[in-house]
Amino acid sequence: MTQRGSALNFRDFVTELLATGDAVDIRVPVSPTLEVGAVTRRVYDTRSPAPLFGDLTEGAPGFRILGAPAGLSGVPGEPYGRLAAHFGLPRDTTPRDLLEKLVSAMKARPVPPRIVPTGPCKENVLTGDDVDLTRFPVPLLHEQDGGRYFGTYGFHVVRTPDGRWTSWSVSRTMLHGRDTLVGPAMPQQHLGMIHRMWADRGERTPWAMVLGAPPAALAAAGMPLPAEVDESGYVGALTGSPVDVVRTETNGLYVPANSEIVLEGYISPDETAPEGPMGEYHGYAFAESKPQPVFHVEAVTHRDRAVLPVCVAGLPPEENHTIWGTMISATGLDLLRSSGLPVSFAWCSYEAATCWMVVAVDIRRLARTRMTERELADAVAEVLFGSHTGWLVPKVLLVADDIDITDIDQVVWAMATRSHPATGHHVYPDAPGIPMVPYLTEEEVRAGRGGKCVVSCLLPEQFDGVTRGVTASFDNSFPGDVRRHVTAHWADYGFPAADRRGHRP
Ligand SMILES: Cc1cc2nc3c(=O)[nH]c(=O)nc-3n(C[C@H](O)[C@H](O)[C@H](O)COP(=O)(O)O)c2cc1C
Repeated sequence: MTQRGSALNFRDFVTELLATGDAVDIRVPVSPTLEVGAVTRRVYDTRSPAPLFGDLTEGAPGFRILGAPAGLSGVPGEPYGRLAAHFGLPRDTTPRDLLEKLVSAMKARPVPPRIVPTGPCKENVLTGDDVDLTRFPVPLLHEQDGGRYFGTYGFHVVRTPDGRWTSWSVSRTMLHGRDTLVGPAMPQQHLGMIHRMWADRGERTPWAMVLGAPPAALAAAGMPLPAEVDESGYVGALTGSPVDVVRTETNGLYVPANSEIVLEGYISPDETAPEGPMGEYHGYAFAESKPQPVFHVEAVTHRDRAVLPVCVAGLPPEENHTIWGTMISATGLDLLRSSGLPVSFAWCSYEAATCWMVVAVDIRRLARTRMTERELADAVAEVLFGSHTGWLVPKVLLVADDIDITDIDQVVWAMATRSHPATGHHVYPDAPGIPMVPYLTEEEVRAGRGGKCVVSCLLPEQFDGVTRGVTASFDNSFPGDVRRHVTAHWADYGFPAADRRGHRP
């Protein structure tokens, strides 16, 4: 028996997408060399159903690829349907409800994983000379990429030498050889931190990579939970059920039992190889490769007819925005609320490519604090920029909570009409930050600091709890009986049914 449901079983997730019309079972032959990438990119752009490539022209027969697993959906009324399915939630779940669910699971008692003797990921076990990653249809995703990417939607599993903490984290891996991968393990990310602990002892880091993982586990692995927190326990709390895990064949780690593909082995303490370039989350592909750690694969286990999930990173919206951005929003919201600041919500707009977080400020509570704009900006910067979450977020926009910050149109309007060009930008040159942000100078990249700001889109009188103007809109400019009459008679005027704005796209 294996766990069921779209949150805890990737195969069920795929079946559910097909059943709801939000995936297409592609039967024609498709090449993993650029064609998979091109189709998937066009799917993101056109909000088309996720492509399930069943007949790939390279790699051993039988393997499949799912593109755009968390792309936005074109199914009417369900733009976030694929995202919601990652958590077993109704397909019409709003970002607001999803975030509240993610935050409340952070407060809940962790539910540790359950060890089971075996599972579908053991349907095929390959060790020794049988390990050959090129048997898989490893895709070349963008023309500019420095290689084929095996892991764009999978997570690493590593454990501290004392066994106290097991970390799951999403980070890309490029095919390097028949049994090797290469990819980043940044020292600020938990993968890099745990790798350093082993390397400092002169030892190899026992490692596994899970592809086609339970979707809720993948999302949690892309979430900046604090150090020493096991993502598996969070997933248990989030889904209300422990994740079934099995022991790897070779290195004593545990991986979700129904995963599609599991790679196991070790990270070399000192060996590096050039990795990249790759089209990235901020939307650009740069020309350089960088030396990164080499991952040695000593065993591969996989399900029959295994499905490799693929994210083709680049312009929003793709999974770096819909999954990573959403999970950053949840940890950021929790941090800000827990700090006591007058914050009601936080949201990384997908359109901003995980380069900004919009923070909704409760104006009534703000007035009671008697804070100035500078004090509020500094307090938000202090809470966020010093944290594991805030390291990832270069820009923060402060917006009054009359704005629905999950609606980019409203955010743009607030920014244009409420942010003072002379006084609204607060810059934090010493704040540490992710060095991948495209506008950073070479000096800032070297120092790992700078390029961070808080932009206030709050009007001066809002600090005194005063509202000067009323938003001129359908909701605010007409009495309720007029609005109800107009809505009720919409078809009588000759209009087609209108989908009120609010939840884009
Ligand atoms: C689709 C996707 C791709 C990602 N790619 C990378 C990556 O290549 N490198 C990286 O450091 N983080 C990447 N992330 C973000 C990390 O998974 C995220 O910051 C997470 O918090 C890291 O785990 P940690 O908090 O345990 O360090 C990606 C996230 C997603 C959802």
